[in-house]
Amino acid sequence: MRTDTGHVFRLEDYRPSDYLILETSLVFRLSPEATRVTATLTIERRDGVAASAPLVLDGDGLTLVRIAIDGRELQPAEFLATPDQLTISQPPSAPRFQLLIETEIAPAGNETLMGLYRSSSVYCTQCEAEGFRRITYFLDRPDILSVYTVRIEAKLDEAPLLLSNGNPAGSGDLADGWHYAVWHDPFPKPSYLFALVAGALGKVADSFVTMSGRTVELGIFVEPGKERLAGYAMDALKRSMRWDEEAFGREYDLEVFNIVAVSDFNMGAMENKGLNIFNDKYVLADEETATDADFANIEAIIAHEYFHNWTGNRITCRDWFQLCLKEGLTVFRDHEFSADQRSRAVKRIAEVRTLRAHQFPEDQGPLAHPVRPRRYREINNFYTATVYEKGSEVVRMIRTILGTDAFRAGMDLYFERHDGEAATIEDFLKVFEDVSGRDLSQFALWYHQAGTPNLTVSSTHSPAAREFTLEIEQSVPPTPAESRKRLMHIPLAFGLVGADGRPVAYSGVDGATVEDGVIHIRKRRQVVRFSGVAERPAVSLNRGFSAPITLSVEQKADDQFFLAGHDSDSFSRWQAFNTLLTDALIAAFRQILGGGEPVYIARLTELAGRVAADEALEPAYRALALALPGEADIARDIGKGIDPDAIFSAREALALAIAKANEQAFSSLYDRLADKGPFSPDAASAGRRSLRNILLDYLTLLPEGTELAARHFRSATNMTDRAAALTVLAHRHRGSPETAKALADFEAKYGSDALVMDKWFQIRAGVPGPQTVETVRALTKHAGFSMANPNRVRSLVGTFSSANQTGFHRRDGEGYRFFAETVLEVEKRNPQVAARLATALRSWRSLEPVRQAKAREALLTIASAENLSADLRDIVERTLA
Ligand code: ARG
Ligand code: ZN
Repeated sequence: MRTDTGHVFRLEDYRPSDYLILETSLVFRLSPEATRVTATLTIERRDGVAASAPLVLDGDGLTLVRIAIDGRELQPAEFLATPDQLTISQPPSAPRFQLLIETEIAPAGNETLMGLYRSSSVYCTQCEAEGFRRITYFLDRPDILSVYTVRIEAKLDEAPLLLSNGNPAGSGDLADGWHYAVWHDPFPKPSYLFALVAGALGKVADSFVTMSGRTVELGIFVEPGKERLAGYAMDALKRSMRWDEEAFGREYDLEVFNIVAVSDFNMGAMENKGLNIFNDKYVLADEETATDADFANIEAIIAHEYFHNWTGNRITCRDWFQLCLKEGLTVFRDHEFSADQRSRAVKRIAEVRTLRAHQFPEDQGPLAHPVRPRRYREINNFYTATVYEKGSEVVRMIRTILGTDAFRAGMDLYFERHDGEAATIEDFLKVFEDVSGRDLSQFALWYHQAGTPNLTVSSTHSPAAREFTLEIEQSVPPTPAESRKRLMHIPLAFGLVGADGRPVAYSGVDGATVEDGVIHIRKRRQVVRFSGVAERPAVSLNRGFSAPITLSVEQKADDQFFLAGHDSDSFSRWQAFNTLLTDALIAAFRQILGGGEPVYIARLTELAGRVAADEALEPAYRALALALPGEADIARDIGKGIDPDAIFSAREALALAIAKANEQAFSSLYDRLADKGPFSPDAASAGRRSLRNILLDYLTLLPEGTELAARHFRSATNMTDRAAALTVLAHRHRGSPETAKALADFEAKYGSDALVMDKWFQIRAGVPGPQTVETVRALTKHAGFSMANPNRVRSLVGTFSSANQTGFHRRDGEGYRFFAETVLEVEKRNPQVAARLATALRSWRSLEPVRQAKAREALLTIASAENLSADLRDIVERTLA
């Protein structure tokens, strides 16, 4: 485990390395306990650097075996090697020399899942961000681009398959049952993109002909016997390759493209050049084992990693502060891909829900940071929703401001100008300024300033003057280390909607630049006047979620209901309904805290019925509209004094009111939506299933709901329906014999399939109520559970702590105590996963006082543990600060 030096890395301290590594040749002799790594590095002193400049290489827990320069072994006095650093204080005076370094590492005992490790006896690597230094001493920073040649030697029976980056460049047999393979990657790359895989794996092979007619061999490698589960991923890969050619003109560049699925992986997947390594959860799927959400995730993540080949690999990041340069942009690209492959309207709503659920609380709490941070202690803690999701929204805003054509021209220029380089956010913004002639300096604050901006909007209409006025005021709340904020450039898409649902024409506008349906907000307060408006329109704001902001709009309920039924922008129409639901839930929360019973108006529950029945809308859209704001969403909108039990009651009462008001209609629609014909994971079929399953959710609140859920479970012919029914049974009909039977049947059927059992752990960890902490504690002893596997930990402990509001936030603090213990236990093996888990308490200050005090105790327990890793210490200390 990496020791915590407490060192803070600062953006302003960046300076280029004194030395470059032009070529890297690696020889691996693989063995579980003692793998030998021989690195031969062609090192060049950068122009203008004094010959006396020491060469300092990064390491992390390394054991040096041998070191030589230009063929001569170094004497002990000529270098200093610690596990974490190798210093050669007097490198040769020649500008170029060859450094040979031999290290010994033990992949078998490596539970951090960084560097070289074993996952179910397969050797694999994870080097982003700083894992390469766990393999050999190196200039382990993204601006050191090197051409790699890799030779892997292993026992043939232990590792028949030997993979690395680039193209295959030879293989053969060696003495004593060993063999080797050589890989050469012609594209210079940073060390974080290095990968090696060796083991016994099954292969799914296919090929792809690129836009210029080159044939690329495609391979997806999985645990032997699981090949038939990789078909969907392969299909998604080919669609991604085609889409990047069509949408961005980007062609694949190597002769092969390989993907390997492993079962122990810290994140979703990794874009290593020509050899993507995936968490198997995002590769393996069929209707029996995967839900529609799993299929959608696989498609998106396969695309994401593939798209990195250009945005991340061909053009990489100068330093880790620029992480969003590759991540935000690549998320934007995978969002666009999914929107094109599925339904754009539905995809956009889903994206915004995710952003609000994960990024908004981050931005509004102690872990807030700019999309491009200026400091970090542990870079692994910056693979965040802000860098990824808000980073993507910032790219989307650039497109909104420039228009599609200029945006594409800017992207073309970016690829042309920076191919083969390690670039910065300034480089990225500059291409868009250059192609459009626009000044993006105020806009750039979206990268530099943390916090979710708020716009307060009110409107007036003067029939006499035929004038409609919007008064808009912006504010950016203070965030850690940034108490004074500057004013931002916010592109606010809008529409004025007339009584017939059509856009209202206006003859002129002043007070702001308004282009193509977008108001450009740049000042603290702007009064925007639309002239020639005879009748008062309803105003639809932030259409398509054009900016990642919060809105406080003074709007009549009539207008809100009207927009929920008529807004021509599908996102805003969904938003109008969602706002009505949220407002009603918050009012009910306050009624409950005041000792009353929540009351919901018929107008709202009837509107839910109309949305459900509206055949003009896609089923997936209707399903999203009917999904009530989550408990955490409601908590976020309330802001402080959170009592999760009261929120839960308010939400259940609204669901029941909607179910009662629409019983007949929901029931007959539920029947009509039943799957007919063979299973398809396509968006339309998935949409029908999601609508039917949300109706199930409502209908099972009514008498005989338990039987209905049990029937749905028994008759399910795919995992989507089966998991939906099991969730309803476990969460709503806890303690019923039907629930006990369904849980047992599921476990009996899927007990040996770890990925399917993750769903079972998740469902059980999500059961609302104070008793669940005991269940979860007991399940950590379940034969299928392991503290060493990130997917298991996230399914059970992650779900409990970040998706079970009433269970985790149990008033007596027992949920937090279990959490603190478990985080510390996970940390012993895997600090990265523990640190991520620990972020579940980031919003502790918004809780009511009793829970707040208990949550703080749990955080202090973690903070005071001995030998805390840099990863976990960074998170707890910032959370408590
Ligand atoms: N670059 C990967 C992706 O977004 C994420 C890898 C992050 N890994 C880590 N250890 N922090 O696709
Ligand atoms: Zn990525």
